[in-house]
Amino acid sequence: MASPWLYSPIASVQSPSPEVTKDDEDSMCSNALKDEFRHNTENRFIPLKKAGSGTYGVVWIALQAALTAQNPVPSANTLRAGICAVKVPVEDSDECTVASEVDVLKRVNAATSPTMSKHFPELLDWLLTLEPSENDNFNWFSMAAIIPSITLRDVSSSCDRSKEPMPETLVSHVAVQLSNAIGFLHEQSPPILHEDLHEGNVMLKVDMKSPFKMPTVVLIDFGLSGRCGGTSTLGDELMFYALLFALANTQQPCTHDGKLPPEPLALCHHDKNWIDFVMGLYWALELESLPLREFNNLYVPKAMERVNNADGRTLSNIEDLLRLIMERVPQITDEEILEAIAISESN
Ligand SMILES: Nc1ncnc2c1ncn2[C@@H]1O[C@H](COP(=O)(O)OP(=O)(O)OP(=O)(O)O)[C@@H](O)[C@H]1O
Ligand SMILES: [Mg+2]
Repeated sequence: MASPWLYSPIASVQSPSPEVTKDDEDSMCSNALKDEFRHNTENRFIPLKKAGSGTYGVVWIALQAALTAQNPVPSANTLRAGICAVKVPVEDSDECTVASEVDVLKRVNAATSPTMSKHFPELLDWLLTLEPSENDNFNWFSMAAIIPSITLRDVSSSCDRSKEPMPETLVSHVAVQLSNAIGFLHEQSPPILHEDLHEGNVMLKVDMKSPFKMPTVVLIDFGLSGRCGGTSTLGDELMFYALLFALANTQQPCTHDGKLPPEPLALCHHDKNWIDFVMGLYWALELESLPLREFNNLYVPKAMERVNNADGRTLSNIEDLLRLIMERVPQITDEEILEAIAISESN
């Protein structure tokens, strides 16, 4: 079979055809990618939407095909419960990253208590080809889908668009939950190092039922975990502080290089705890040192206090922000589910 990857947008741009519109190209490209995904997962999954892709992997929101094999096919609403997220390696990437991610998720899932497990993806199933050949290169794993699929990057982009700082209470909430999750990883023996902590690798599980509850912070993407082979937790700690520092400084001047001169920030905020928190991050990054244990002692109790004492107005601002982001994330409709099943049956 000709590789569907040949239908890359770049290839299409190089050989323009007057009859083919941009929408046609996108849809051809998307259909080809879906074919590739079905092939690589041996038709175990029916792709619905691409959730994201990076240097090493592509994540698809997909239906478990076995669920649709029943006669009669269950309703779209029932099938919704069988939606999961499936990660496959991008072509030419090192398949080992999928295997090592599965290993880490197995360790994390086995070790966590329910209060901790909510901060990590739940591994459902996987297939690893031990000796991949050109035609047999089946590596994938599935995990519980987080829908709507929102990352901290979506939140900071939304704040950037509306030229608003990220709510301090939300940043504090992320600091508390993420420091817990990272601390848990580092406590394992040997420690689990994430090694790729950034806004795109932190998801928010949003529950919009009333009354509003703060979202659950979920740390995803263990594809680079352990790549350096060491046990020093410093790299993760600095990435974590840089991530919080960037969130705390959304919409502040001079933040794009990741560093902000301390004085202007101190001048424009009056809450002492918040200034201490941001300055603590600043100096941790400057000095390249602040063990997570110390961060937990110095700042987490104050951040927790801020979250626990948040007033109704603060919470409703955060709720509005999350609603706005969710409206931008395309929902999976019943029609899309039924159409995806029909396409997969016709193949
Ligand atoms: N369990 C999940 N449920 C829903 N969406 C998910 C899930 N896991 C990942 N995603 C989405 O897929 C995107 C890519 O996932 P992930 O970071 O694991 O892949 P990646 O290929 O390593 O990407 P990158 O290199 O950009 O970090 C995430 O940013 C998120 O939007
Ligand atoms: Mg990622």
